[in-house]
Amino acid sequence: MPKSGKDKKTLKQALNYDWPEIQKHLIEERAREAAEESGEEGDPYEPYWTTNSDGTRTLHMSLDSWWLQHFDREDVIFELPGIVVMNSKDWHAGDAAWTLREAYGVGRDEDCDDCFSEEDIATHVELFPEGQFTAFRISGPAAGQALAIAVTMRTSRPPTASILPWREAIGDMRLGAHEPDGDWLYGVEMAVHPNYQGHGIGTSLYEARFSLVKSLSLRGWYLVGMLMGYRDHADDMDVLEYGNKVIAREVKDPTVTMQMNRGFRPERVITDYVDEAAAGDAGVLLVWDNPHFDLEKLT
Ligand SMILES: CC(C)(COP(=O)(O)OP(=O)(O)OC[C@H]1O[C@@H](n2cnc3c(N)ncnc32)[C@H](O)[C@@H]1OP(=O)(O)O)[C@@H](O)C(=O)NCCC(=O)NCCS
Repeated sequence: MPKSGKDKKTLKQALNYDWPEIQKHLIEERAREAAEESGEEGDPYEPYWTTNSDGTRTLHMSLDSWWLQHFDREDVIFELPGIVVMNSKDWHAGDAAWTLREAYGVGRDEDCDDCFSEEDIATHVELFPEGQFTAFRISGPAAGQALAIAVTMRTSRPPTASILPWREAIGDMRLGAHEPDGDWLYGVEMAVHPNYQGHGIGTSLYEARFSLVKSLSLRGWYLVGMLMGYRDHADDMDVLEYGNKVIAREVKDPTVTMQMNRGFRPERVITDYVDEAAAGDAGVLLVWDNPHFDLEKLT
C-alpha cells in the first residue's frame, strides 16, 4: 500500500531518531558473525575487509561510523531534526576546533592565537565537563562531526566588577582562570558552523547552559557578546555608537541581538575585549540572573 505523506514523515523522523542505534546494532551484529566465522574476536568498530568467493573484497563498516562506538543516547540534552546537543567529549575536539575556525572565517592553517585547538578543547572537557557543549548530526555523511561548540567556565568575579579582556578573563587557552566553586558562569566561546546557522542550534546551546546554571544553582551567567555585525556599519559610525544602537534595538546585530532575544540583559559596550576585526574588537556585556538562585544550594 502506498505510504501517505504523514506516514513518510513519521518514518523519516523514526529513522533520523533511531539511526545511530540501528547502525550500532548492524555493526555489532556483523562483527559477531565475522568472529564466529573466523574464530577471532575483534573490535566491532574497527573497519575490516573480507574476500568474496570471486576474489573481490568488501569493507565492513563505513569509515564515517567511527563515532558510533562513543555515542550514547542518554548523553543527549536536546534534539533537533537529525542533530543532537550534548556535553562535549574528547572525541568531538578535533571537529569542534575546525568548526570554530569556520565560524570566524579563519583558515585551517592560518595562525590564530585566539582559536582553541583540539588539545585546548580536550582540556576544557577534562577541567569542567558539564560546562562544554557540542552539537552534531546523527545521520548523513557528516554524522558524528561537531558542527557547533560552546565553551564555559566558572568564576567568582561578578559582572559588576570591571570586565577583563577575554584572554585575561580566561587565564589562558586551557581556561587557567576557571574556579570550580565560582558562583557565576562565564561564557567563553560559542560558534555554529556557517552552513548550519539559523536552524536553532545556537538557541539549543543557550537553553542547555541556562539549564546548567539552574542545576548548579549559580548566581547567573554573563558573557561579552561580540558585535559581529559591526563590519557592515564601520564606515558610518564607531563601534561604541554601533553597540549602543544595538542595545537600544535601533540596529540588529546577528550575534548580540540574537543573544538579547534569548533572555540576556545588555549592560554596556566593552571595547578592546578581544582581537576580532569584524566586531571592531568590541562586544556587549550580557547578563542573565538565575531567578532560582539559592546560596544554600550552590554546588
Ligand atoms: C551567533 C551564533 C552562535 C547563533 O547560532 P545559530 O545556530 O545560527 O542561532 P539560532 O539558529 O538558534 O538562532 C537564530 C537567530 O540568530 C540569528 N542569526 C543566526 N545566524 C545569523 C546570520 N548569519 N545572520 C543574521 N542573523 C543570524 C537569526 O536572526 C536568529 O535571530 P532571532 O531568532 O533572535 O531573530 C552563530 O551565528 C555563530 O556561530 N556566529 C559566528 C560566531 C559568533 O558570533 N559567536 C558568538 C560570539 S559571542
